[in-house]
Amino acid sequence: MGERANARIAVFPGSFDPLTNGHIDIIQRGAKLFDRIIVAVLTNASKTPLFTVDERLAIIRENFQQTPNVEADGFDGLVVDYARRKGATVLVRGLRGISDFEYELQMAMMNRHLDAAIETVFMMPAEQYTYVSSRLIKEVMTLGGSITGLVPPGVEKRLVDKKKGTSRP
Ligand code: PNS
Repeated sequence: MGERANARIAVFPGSFDPLTNGHIDIIQRGAKLFDRIIVAVLTNASKTPLFTVDERLAIIRENFQQTPNVEADGFDGLVVDYARRKGATVLVRGLRGISDFEYELQMAMMNRHLDAAIETVFMMPAEQYTYVSSRLIKEVMTLGGSITGLVPPGVEKRLVDKKKGTSRP
């Protein structure tokens, strides 16, 4: 099936370690706005991740099986270079609140400096996810708190398995 020459392709870059319901909310909003949205997992991050890149990609794919215009892919290097290679003109980022803004503005401006043809679009998740972050999910899980309803069931299962010391792909 050929793609329209003017198809609007967006890249949603991030660590997704792990995918949360907040990310899912942003991806669903992006899937309505753009012809394709590529959820791009950074593969060469300096911090040690809890989930491997393959696990993170599998989680994204299993949550968007029914949404054909959502794809998952790994990337390294500059996100603007990756976006250009994919024919994307938009970078999507989620904004939960003022505390996200400064870092996000800096990244958006740096990315614009690197490639002015790529526009960053910020989207706000549903209110109930404004306090959800991958970092807090991992912390709460490690300390024995409930994360039900904040991450997709496949992520909760995998986190339980990791805590028990038994992993699934
Ligand atoms: O989920 P995160 O950790 O907030 O995502 C950060 C990410 C992956 C979007 C950012 O670190 C990134 O784009 N890294 C790729 C390298 C790059 O392009 N750096 C310059 C962008 S300002």
